[in-house]
Amino acid sequence: MGKIIAIVNQKGGVGKTTTSINLAAALGMLNKKVLVVDLDPQGNATTGVGVDKRGIDGSIYEVMTMKMPIENAIIKTKSMNLSIIPAYLNLAGVDMELIELEKQYKDTDKKFNRVMRLKDELSKVRDNYDFILIDCPPSLGILTTNALAAANSVLIPVQCEYYALEGIMQLINTIMLAQRKVNPNLDIEGVLLTMLSVNTNLGLEVISSIKEFFKERVYDTIIPRLIKLAEAPSHGKTILDYDPKGKGTRAYLNLAKEVIERNGTKEESVG
Ligand SMILES: Nc1ncnc2c1ncn2[C@@H]1O[C@H](COP(=O)(O)OP(=O)(O)OP(=O)(O)O)[C@@H](O)[C@H]1O
Ligand SMILES: [Mg+2]
Repeated sequence: MGKIIAIVNQKGGVGKTTTSINLAAALGMLNKKVLVVDLDPQGNATTGVGVDKRGIDGSIYEVMTMKMPIENAIIKTKSMNLSIIPAYLNLAGVDMELIELEKQYKDTDKKFNRVMRLKDELSKVRDNYDFILIDCPPSLGILTTNALAAANSVLIPVQCEYYALEGIMQLINTIMLAQRKVNPNLDIEGVLLTMLSVNTNLGLEVISSIKEFFKERVYDTIIPRLIKLAEAPSHGKTILDYDPKGKGTRAYLNLAKEVIERNGTKEESVG
């Protein structure tokens, strides 16, 4: 049964999407079967793996509102072992629609819980994957709640900057609330330091304060700030395809190995 990991931080621009698609591609390269769920109406993960949003028949919105079976929304990408359920702008309106649908289903014998929509759908396909990564939007609304209900664990990217820990308490409170209300087994998978600039002392200070706070939850791998990582999505490529021998690829492959190790299975050899 596939492990479901939500990539969460309500703070914008900390590297959630970059991590979702590149960690997913790296896990795929290490022979794991991976599904990315794009749960952000911006659809950056979708574009980032080279899927043209204009060419898709359905997205996570249609799946969550029961307009399309989940199997039909899954798209194979060009990357090895990597599929994605895309997201589109219509996902931004899913909130009201889920409330409406829940009302409609109330008087029928069919089950419909707006907070459990993603969990209920992913349960139909999770046996087909080793890992399912959910790229969350920068908010703590119904979409993130669905991700926290569906996931086994959360991976928190934290940008190496002065205000890194700002908002972390709110995030921890939200995770604890999710544990109480919808998902008692929800775990913290790990904390990932992202966008470390070389030649700044600030980065080192931030690293030590985050390690003090999260202790051994922090991955040894730190993602450096690299222009190539920012460029790759505009070519519709993961870093493994865009710069296969570069530092970004090495960093995300190292992270993937740590993720596999923490989950108690050794990666198989490539090829
Ligand atoms: N390691 C990195 N080096 C350089 N640029 C990066 C790195 N990681 C992310 N970026 C860039 O920083 C911006 C924000 O990254 P990303 O989109 O992954 O963050 P996010 O948390 O998903 O943002 P949002 O909250 O808007 O969904 C993007 O332009 C991305 O290309
Ligand atoms: Mg994003």
